[in-house]
Amino acid sequence: MTAAASAIASLPPAGDLVTIPGIAAPVRRVHVPLGDRAYDIMVGGGVLAATGRLVRDLTGARRAAVVTDETVATHHLARLRAALDDAGIDHQAIILPPGEGTKRFGELERLLDRLLASGIERGQPVIALGGGVVGDLSGFAAAVLRRGTCFVQVPTTLLAQVDSSVGGKTGINTPHGKNLIGAFHQPAVVIADTDLLSTLPARELRAGYAEVVKYGAIDDAPFFDWLETRGTEVLSTAGGARDQAVARSCAAKARIVAADETETGQRALLNLGHTFGHAFEAVAGYDGRLLHGEAVAIGMVLAFRLSVRRGLCPAADLARLTRHLAAAGLPVRPQDAAGVNWTVDGLMAPIAQDKKAREGRVRYILARGIGRSFIADDVAPAEVATLIGDVLAGRTDADTSDASPQIVSAG
Ligand code: NAD
Ligand code: GLY
Repeated sequence: MTAAASAIASLPPAGDLVTIPGIAAPVRRVHVPLGDRAYDIMVGGGVLAATGRLVRDLTGARRAAVVTDETVATHHLARLRAALDDAGIDHQAIILPPGEGTKRFGELERLLDRLLASGIERGQPVIALGGGVVGDLSGFAAAVLRRGTCFVQVPTTLLAQVDSSVGGKTGINTPHGKNLIGAFHQPAVVIADTDLLSTLPARELRAGYAEVVKYGAIDDAPFFDWLETRGTEVLSTAGGARDQAVARSCAAKARIVAADETETGQRALLNLGHTFGHAFEAVAGYDGRLLHGEAVAIGMVLAFRLSVRRGLCPAADLARLTRHLAAAGLPVRPQDAAGVNWTVDGLMAPIAQDKKAREGRVRYILARGIGRSFIADDVAPAEVATLIGDVLAGRTDADTSDASPQIVSAG
């Protein structure tokens, strides 16, 4: 093995290893240092069984409300309930319909009604067992319930384990766009049991992988190198590389969130690919034709393409990013999501609603290369409209042979 290859294979692990009584394997603990809102992310196979004890030790609560969706409930609710029972935590489970369509006002109102009817108090945790949809919706409910109720994340998708459960962003969608109503509300603890990913459909796993790649693309080139070598393992095999990728991603997010909790500056970097991605999702209609992570994959390719057009980023880095995402089975062009009527105007409308806009000017995350992303305030709408028009028309830039993308069915 060359020195470079061995450095890639031995990427330093994130967080520290802790032993939890009753959990067979050591668990990786990543700390999110946010003063009086600091918390730990516990990453590892089997850690779900410790949820009750962790929650009781942290909060002292003897009651909780579990919020989940129908699909996750089928696979994993019984084990969470057993873990809460073990710790003597009385609880009620609220089961929501699965899917992005649940992240809306009507469901928020119903959830708040049910939480109030359950009599849950401020110090008694709302426990989100599910993906980003359950986490975002129940986190927002916890943020406004009694002006702020204790919240615990038990993420069950790769996307939720590496991104949405960490950092305290909660909220719902509206017809105007994604996540436009919400609050910052940090969890008391995140319990990321990577064994739960064994029941996740492969397409959902790949969608979450886009957010893993994002951390490499933002500011961690060695992680991107490592993913090029070990990404297949992350996607195919439980344990080792997958746990390492989850912990490394959480540590990356924790670092950025600790520096800028409420996104007044650098946290916007976490939105690499999201300004475009949220627009793709809004136009696709949140109906499963394009998953959030898939939209982010396409959005990252567009952000890098824009960066190449501006002469900021080597074309080779765009090609590398595109190749890696496509090899992971992710879409890299809007056309890869079948059955959506993509138009420039249709996409520009939600882009104008982006939360990062200041004085009407949308901010983009661009890149000087893989691992060298930055916030750009000077991108004109016409430049973006031209880019989108070219991409929709299938016009490639002469200097960016972006790695004949593999077309996957997003349907
Ligand atoms: P999701 O919550 O809809 O879950 C995807 C699907 O997988 C659902 O049908 C769910 O029922 C199912 N599922 C979940 N866990 C499962 C398991 N272990 N086994 C089998 N099926 C399982 O989607 P997601 O990709 O987890 O999250 C996407 C959402 O997260 C979007 O709304 C996005 O805006 C949000 N998000 C939020 C943040 C944040 O910082 N708050 C960051 C990124 C994304
Ligand atoms: N997913 C973007 C953020 O948490 O800031």
